[in-house]
Amino acid sequence: MNRPYTFINVAMTADGKIDTFERKGAAISSARDKQRVDELRAAADAVLVGGRTLLEEQPKLTVRSEALREGRIRQGRSPNPIKVGVASVADIPKDSDFIKAGDARLVIFTTSRTSIPQIERLRALGVEVFVDDSARVDLRKMMLTLKKIGVDHLMVEGGGTINFELMRLGLVDELLIHVAPMIFGGANAPTLADGSGFPRESAREMKLMDVERWDDGGVLLKYKFL
Ligand SMILES: NC(=O)c1ccc[n+]([C@@H]2O[C@H](COP(=O)([O-])OP(=O)(O)OC[C@H]3O[C@@H](n4cnc5c(N)ncnc54)[C@H](OP(=O)(O)O)[C@@H]3O)[C@@H](O)[C@H]2O)c1
Repeated sequence: MNRPYTFINVAMTADGKIDTFERKGAAISSARDKQRVDELRAAADAVLVGGRTLLEEQPKLTVRSEALREGRIRQGRSPNPIKVGVASVADIPKDSDFIKAGDARLVIFTTSRTSIPQIERLRALGVEVFVDDSARVDLRKMMLTLKKIGVDHLMVEGGGTINFELMRLGLVDELLIHVAPMIFGGANAPTLADGSGFPRESAREMKLMDVERWDDGGVLLKYKFL
């Protein structure tokens, strides 16, 4: 494959929401699920988020467990996977956790809508910035670049817009969903796949590979895209 093997991991309520209508990054995962996510991050070469998640939540995207970081180092890898952000306008503050937290290579895919001084600021902070001339980042090209810089195994951690676009373009191999036993509701609350949506005849089809029922009330669903 000339792109990384790519999976989306998402924590979702029973009504399909990945945040409340307030969009403040509501906690959905249980303690056990957080540990599972940490293990997935520790196994990945890179972890990717969309621009809104990146700018509004400033996620750390680091491996929390010291033992897992040490395990990566023993394998000759960096302690954390490469952090990747996709933002049409990459106005990331220099003190954001995405930039500051942990020892990790940082990569941003953006467009020429990000000002040149801001691109220079990011580069001065050690961020590798790839600039697209199109209105939005060309995600197919982004995947080729990620593969070229050594990403074979990519974890995508949302949000709904970037998830949908990657699925629409056929760039996702697996979808892992932690379904938490709660309802957020709200027509405007983000779901695991937002964007413009598919008409029925273009719906992306998947095969259910595994289901785990957890004691904490959560359910883990593992799908492969056909
Ligand atoms: N529960 C979970 O597992 C989880 C995980 C992550 C996030 N979230 C939630 O998801 C919400 C954020 O999701 P979101 O859908 O608003 O935003 P998002 O998917 O995080 O980010 C989308 C952004 O990416 C930019 N982008 C640039 N090129 C793109 C392209 N080719 N295709 C798609 N997007 C492109 C878009 O910019 P332009 O529109 O300017 O082009 C847009 O601002 C938050 O509420 C967050 O808490 C939940």
